[in-house]
Amino acid sequence: MPALPHVASGKVRDIYEVDRDRLLFVASDRISAYDVVLPDLIPDKGKVLTGLSLYWFENLGVPNHFISTDLSETVDDPADLQGRAMIVRKAEVIPMECVVRGYLYGSSWREYEAGGGPTTEHLPAGLQMAEQLPEPLFTPATKAESGHDENLTVAGARALVGEDVYEQLKHTAIDIYLQAAQAAAAKGVLLADTKFEFGWVDGELLLVDEVLTPDSSRYWPADRYEVGRTVPSFDKQYVRDWLDSTGWDHTPPAPAMPDDVKSATRARYVEAFERITGQPFDDYLEGS
Ligand SMILES: Nc1ncnc2c1ncn2[C@@H]1O[C@H](COP(=O)(O)OP(=O)(O)OP(=O)(O)O)[C@@H](O)[C@H]1O
Ligand SMILES: [Mg+2]
Repeated sequence: MPALPHVASGKVRDIYEVDRDRLLFVASDRISAYDVVLPDLIPDKGKVLTGLSLYWFENLGVPNHFISTDLSETVDDPADLQGRAMIVRKAEVIPMECVVRGYLYGSSWREYEAGGGPTTEHLPAGLQMAEQLPEPLFTPATKAESGHDENLTVAGARALVGEDVYEQLKHTAIDIYLQAAQAAAAKGVLLADTKFEFGWVDGELLLVDEVLTPDSSRYWPADRYEVGRTVPSFDKQYVRDWLDSTGWDHTPPAPAMPDDVKSATRARYVEAFERITGQPFDDYLEGS
């Protein structure tokens, strides 16, 4: 644990204050599903999340909160945190999850199938599960303090952040989605949907939080994609499926994870890292 003031811990990240303008952002190996943190850790998961966020911060060309991975002047024992921590600019986070969907899947598919709702109200009839949308959809959600995030209507989102900011967030989020989806497709990976967070620093809008990781995004191996069917993903679906098989009712505590499920989960995170970055994960661990 770094000897810095602890600011907050979310389900996955621990945040410390470096000084007035900077935070130390540490991704743990915790995993959450159905909004509950599971009792087991997934070895190296935090490093996968940090490595992927770094990859996208470097490659997107979008103003973001990343400052440095050099921890030598910030903590006494940088080795403990190497690969899973970065120093970022402290932002005033906008309380809206900026979700972009390129395919009709997950909660949006369920909503569409059930007759429509806030995320699918403008879609044509007759689309199938997992079908690519005519254009990416911006479907923002509340950032719930606890429990489930709720999808916002366009009017609700505009009221929450203001008209101008809404337009800016929508355009920026869709732009990033399109850039990332194109880059991923070149690696044989489809970006089904993803969630961004943005924040203000000195009047400038920055991309913050984790970016385009398997925790914030649904990535599909392109060769397993088929319209009208469930698509296996690199995200937590594998863990959710295992949890479902145990009959757990989604109230804490979650069941303990057998070793084979743990290592299969780790392997999926590592595979996502390697497919998307084109870099062996071991090289990242050595270089970080
Ligand atoms: N640059 C930044 N400045 C300040 N806060 C940030 C910054 N980037 C991300 N955050 C916040 O840090 C937290 C990241 O922690 P984590 O991902 O573990 O939280 P979470 O489980 O998603 O839950 P919640 O977002 O509700 O806290 C988020 O609340 C996010 O909004
Ligand atoms: Mg988060």
